[in-house]
Amino acid sequence: MEYLKLNNNLEIPVLGLGTYSLHGAECERCVTEAIENGYRLIDTAQMYANEKSVGDAIKHFNRKDLFITTKLYSPGRSYEKAKSDIEKSLNNLQTDYIDLLLIHEPYKESLDMYRAMKEAYACGKIKAIGISNFNKNLYLDFISKCEIIPAVNQVECHVFYRQKDLQEILKNHGTVMQAWSPFACGRNNFFSNPVLKQIAEKYNKTSGQIALKYLIQSGVSVIPKTSKKERLKENINVFDFSLTNEDMTKIQTLDTGKSLFGWYK
Ligand SMILES: NC(=O)c1ccc[n+]([C@@H]2O[C@H](COP(=O)([O-])OP(=O)(O)OC[C@H]3O[C@@H](n4cnc5c(N)ncnc54)[C@H](OP(=O)(O)O)[C@@H]3O)[C@@H](O)[C@H]2O)c1
Repeated sequence: MEYLKLNNNLEIPVLGLGTYSLHGAECERCVTEAIENGYRLIDTAQMYANEKSVGDAIKHFNRKDLFITTKLYSPGRSYEKAKSDIEKSLNNLQTDYIDLLLIHEPYKESLDMYRAMKEAYACGKIKAIGISNFNKNLYLDFISKCEIIPAVNQVECHVFYRQKDLQEILKNHGTVMQAWSPFACGRNNFFSNPVLKQIAEKYNKTSGQIALKYLIQSGVSVIPKTSKKERLKENINVFDFSLTNEDMTKIQTLDTGKSLFGWYK
């Protein structure tokens, strides 16, 4: 596993397992198999309603080896609610601390929620705090008021919507960009894209592995989701090769500059 350094010196695995849409026993199995196959970062959220299943899986492993991310969702939209939601996540995850806690999306109460997060951070219940789905303007506004610069901004990012400009701004202020839906959730014929396929053949890899490597090599953390054991193994098998500058440039031509999900303009 490779790691990126966050602005408080905590190291975050550059690749982890996304758990959106995984529930119950299936979620527990996937998280267990992921950890057994070398994953260290597990990405969950209150909104996914699977923190308890993630907790049931991670309690069988050495907590110190793992990096657990979760996210505060809209019910936590006040300082007090965020405070109690942090406790709920700790309970669900059955852990003393969360490695990274994010605000799931921009809310008008984000700064109030962040205040509760900063307090939990100060007393060691959270090792790093950050945000998700903040575009350039929302991010710049947030950091002008928030006191602790978010360690991470988790946003839509894949070969069709690379968000290079946003990454540059985040980097200049000390925030790591993390890619959600690094496979664009399969949209736009992602896995049969001819540019990715052609490069994949050259390295004896799959299109998915090339797409992940492209983001990792660009300094972006990735959290692909799969429910299949073989794909768990495939998706983490990206650390034994490097893309050339020429390949990186070819993949960059796939960037349309447009979101495939259209959540936050
Ligand atoms: N912060 C946010 O607002 C936000 C938003 C969206 C997502 N996320 C996070 O980001 C994670 C990843 O995003 P995502 O789940 O939307 O999509 P994704 O990781 O881009 O793609 C997942 C899809 O690709 C398939 N897949 C996975 N590996 C594959 C492979 N090697 N070959 C072919 N197909 C493969 C999966 O199917 P199978 O399961 O059948 O393999 C699933 O349908 C989420 O799980 C969640 O943790 C966060």
